[in-house]
Amino acid sequence: MTFFDHFGREPDGRWAAPGRVNLIGEHVDYAQGLCLPFAIAERTVVEVAARPDDRVRVRSRAEADGFDGSLGDIGPGSPGGWAGYAAGVLWALREAGHRVGGVDLLVADTVPLGAGLSSSAALECATALAVDTLYGLGLDRRDLAAACVRAENDVVGARTGGMDQAASLLATAGHALLLDTRDGSTRQVPFAPADDGLCLLVIDTRVRHRLADGRYGERRAAVEKSAATLGLASLREATLRELEALDGDLLRRARHIVTEIQRVREVVALLDDGRLRDVGPLLDASHQSLALDFEVSCLELDLACQAARGAGALGARMTGGGFGGSAIALAPTDRVDEVTTAVREAFAAGGHEDPEVRAAEPSEGAHPLPVL
Ligand code: GLA
Repeated sequence: MTFFDHFGREPDGRWAAPGRVNLIGEHVDYAQGLCLPFAIAERTVVEVAARPDDRVRVRSRAEADGFDGSLGDIGPGSPGGWAGYAAGVLWALREAGHRVGGVDLLVADTVPLGAGLSSSAALECATALAVDTLYGLGLDRRDLAAACVRAENDVVGARTGGMDQAASLLATAGHALLLDTRDGSTRQVPFAPADDGLCLLVIDTRVRHRLADGRYGERRAAVEKSAATLGLASLREATLRELEALDGDLLRRARHIVTEIQRVREVVALLDDGRLRDVGPLLDASHQSLALDFEVSCLELDLACQAARGAGALGARMTGGGFGGSAIALAPTDRVDEVTTAVREAFAAGGHEDPEVRAAEPSEGAHPLPVL
């Protein structure tokens, strides 16, 4: 169904926002850490029309339900379901003091859902850019990202950090985005695997995850408790030595954070030096740490990484929140077919659903599209 079929009029415009893959720096964005995501080519597209009243209607081509209500009906926990990501942005912008009216919004296309590629952030960011334009807010992309994070944290109720929204709004083609979540500063780090005869593969395990389902929140709580136990504002300031005051789960969770932040620094130094080929061992170490210390991997993610390495990938790790979703593997271009086949065969042999393997291109952040 078209926008016209849903709403009886044409949209005022169309906006696209990409999903993201995180190269490294996992589960550190809520610990004031460093992360290094990039925007992928897959995009969520929203068609939007401003309304003269405060009514809000949200629909999607990919999903049932939606939302039909007024601005005043939007708030923590409402609307539930996927429409909360879009409607929540209107609420967050209003909470920040901006004059925003009603909208009709159709999600016309979407980043693959549940694959760990941040389809939810893409929907928030496309919506934010649309509303900023239609209501002439003139906000900077950092402010838009903050509103998107607020929508996800407060309306949807998923206490995620800000990495996905920053990547979707601030990334540029041919670069990874070094995001320092302590002060929000960013730097574009050249990242073009093809120039080095490499390919960054994304392996969707097809194990679907939901960030709002509790385990993500448990990890975040453990990280916050570790910092509080050490008397620190966050684990960004902690050294491995200081962690000796912790034990058990808190020690392991905290050790992941501290070592992962250091790995991000090392990967950035290699990229700055034009040595992408050498980042493999750091990707592997990140996966180990996420699997053993942070315990957010799963059998299929471990299998994907192991099979990819065995077939010649230089390094591989889970990406995103974990518990399913996608892994990444850095492969020489001439090994891509072998790696893809090896991963699919390993899944078939283990009785798992056939994974989807695709190449990821560091792509541009959110942008308007021409009206059809
Ligand atoms: C999800 C969250 C992000 C980040 C990652 C893990 O994608 O939305 O904020 O915490 O998990 O790095």
